[in-house]
Amino acid sequence: MKVVRTIGELETAPATGLVPTMGALHAGHVALLRAARQENSRVVMSLFVNPAQFDEQSDLAAYPRDEARDLEIAEAEGVDVVFAPAADELYPPGFATWVDPGETGAEGAARPGHFRGVATVCLKLFDLVRPERAYFGQKDAQQLTVIRRLVRDLNVPVEIRAVPTVRDPDGLALSSRNGRLTREERQQALGLPRALAAAVGDPDPVAAARGSLNGLEPEYVEVLDLGDAKVLAAAIRVGSTRLIDNVLLEGELT
Ligand code: PAJ
Repeated sequence: MKVVRTIGELETAPATGLVPTMGALHAGHVALLRAARQENSRVVMSLFVNPAQFDEQSDLAAYPRDEARDLEIAEAEGVDVVFAPAADELYPPGFATWVDPGETGAEGAARPGHFRGVATVCLKLFDLVRPERAYFGQKDAQQLTVIRRLVRDLNVPVEIRAVPTVRDPDGLALSSRNGRLTREERQQALGLPRALAAAVGDPDPVAAARGSLNGLEPEYVEVLDLGDAKVLAAAIRVGSTRLIDNVLLEGELT
C-alpha cells in the first residue's frame, strides 16, 4: 500500500474505486472499502479532515485523528493507495473557488457552509484521482444527494455508489462521534434509530417518528429523495453530540 501526501505523486489508472474519508475509520468505512475492493482493480482511499466542511471550529479541533491505526485498517482491507494530504495541499494560499451545492435540505440548513465544503473537496478528489466509481454511505443521506447532483450537474465522469448504513448490535449507526457519548447519552441516542425504524410503513412517517422519539427533541425529521430510494432522516442532539440517522422507506439503494 502506497501513502501519498502530495498531488504530484498521485497517479491515475483505469478501473479505480475511490473511498473518500476523514479517517477515524470504523466498520462503516470498512464496508465502503470492501464494496470498492469488490468492483475495482485499484482502490484509492482519501484520508483528509476537510477543514472547509466544519461549520464549528470546536468540532474540527475535536475531530478524532489516528492515522497510524487508519493506515493499518486500510492496508488490511487491501487498499492500494491512501491519499493523505495536508490541508494546504488542497487549499493552498489564494484558494478561492467553491462549489455551491444549491438546496441542501434540513441538514444543510442546520450546518451552514457544510455541504459547500463537502461538494468542493469531493469534486477536487474526483478530479485528482479520476475514479471510475466512488463510494458513499447511506448514513449521510443528504451528502449522497449532494454528491449525486454535483456529478450530474457538472458532468463528472464517475459512478456514485451508495453503501447501506453499518450499525452496532444495539442499532446505533456507527459514527466517529459516538465515542463522545457517555453511557447514559448512548442509551438516549438509541431512541433515534428506534423511532426511525418504528415509523417505516406508517402513512405519515415524519409524524410517526416524531411521536415515538419520546422526550428527544429532533432538530428535524424529513423524507429525503435519493433518486432510486426514499429515506426518513433525522438529527438529534444528545448532550453536546449531534447525531444523524436515516432508514429506507421505499425503493433500493444503488
Ligand atoms: P466520513 O465521516 O469519514 O465518512 C466517510 C464515508 O463513510 C461517508 O461516505 C460516510 O457516509 C460513510 N459512513 C460513515 N458512517 C457510516 C456507517 N455507519 N455506515 C456506512 N457508511 C458510513 O463523510 C465524510 O467523511 C466527508 O464528508 C467526506 C465525504 C470524506 C468529504 O470530506
